[in-house]
Amino acid sequence: MNPKQDRRIKIVGSGYYVPDKVLTNADLEKMVDTSDEWITTRSGIKERRIAAPEQASSDLALEAAKRALDDAGMTKDDIDLIIVCTATPDTAFPSTACWVQKGLGTDHIPALDIGAACSGFLYGLIVSESLILSGTNKRILLIATESLSKITDWEDRTTAVLFGDGAAAAVLEESDDDSGILSHYWKADGNLAEVLLQPGGGSRMPCSYAVVDEKMPFLRMRGNEVFKHAIKRMGEAAAEAIAKAGLTHEDVDWLIPHQANIRIITATGKRLHIPDEKVFVNIHKYGNTSCVTTPTALHEMKETGMLKQGDIIVLVAFGAGFTWAAITYRW
Ligand code: ACO
Repeated sequence: MNPKQDRRIKIVGSGYYVPDKVLTNADLEKMVDTSDEWITTRSGIKERRIAAPEQASSDLALEAAKRALDDAGMTKDDIDLIIVCTATPDTAFPSTACWVQKGLGTDHIPALDIGAACSGFLYGLIVSESLILSGTNKRILLIATESLSKITDWEDRTTAVLFGDGAAAAVLEESDDDSGILSHYWKADGNLAEVLLQPGGGSRMPCSYAVVDEKMPFLRMRGNEVFKHAIKRMGEAAAEAIAKAGLTHEDVDWLIPHQANIRIITATGKRLHIPDEKVFVNIHKYGNTSCVTTPTALHEMKETGMLKQGDIIVLVAFGAGFTWAAITYRW
């Protein structure tokens, strides 16, 4: 534990939501030139969930938020800030957090989005920690939500097979015991912004017929480059967070890496000398849901009794920006 930090925040309720529609590798074989064998060996993904046409990111978020509030034994009136992490907002403005606020029907509490792509939930935890420990807010509803299927080019096999939709939420407050966030580490490198981005539709390349014809509002990625940076930076971030907590890799009970690719997950565990049985994996079920992967993993582990009181957990993520972050957490 960081000896200087005797106050910390913790998760007092959590929940996740995935859309009903399952898209399997066999389904994708009928859509693009790919195979279950290629997708499984290269990424570890077997299936992913896809939002319905009428479901926006805030709709997924709302379901996850209600489940997290229920889990905490609280109502919308118990929270004083909504933060939504997303790379697929309902609208550029207002923020997706404001759409969620409308759905929840809260009082006039503040609501804002964080844009850190796959690192969003960890960035959100770090921001929430400061807001709660400074006394600015008492109880924060932090939601990660993505409908990546809406910005996927379903004719591009190099990206179409990787992503999925979903949402996960956590209710955060100051900890009254020794559980909660022990340390964090976060960084970004905008020099690599063009390696993974949604080029069109913003102020750099506003929507026009030509922009749409050239498929610019779809996600573009140079996968090999992302792959190399992800392994390096996730290893670095987790190692730094563990050290900042005054711990070593031997103290870690669970590594929860961002679920982007099974090979990135395995390589990160190896870099950190954390054995495979302590590395959580659920990418086969949901694919890469960006910032939603880490809170979904946390909730699944809690729900299935995998997490024990006092367990030391390391959450680590890497995403577009590039952004990367890690958190050490005592359960
Ligand atoms: N099915 C079949 N073949 C494919 C597919 C597919 N879906 N996609 C690509 N290929 C082909 C390529 O065209 C290429 O063929 P070629 O050799 O004839 O040119 C061959 O497979 C190898 O392609 P690579 O891109 O070298 O394959 P690689 O082993 O690097 O795997 C992948 C690609 C899975 C994208 C990998 O690079 C990766 O996971 N990168 C990380 C990207 C990522 O996870 N991004 C998510 C967002 S960021 C984040 O969350 C970390």
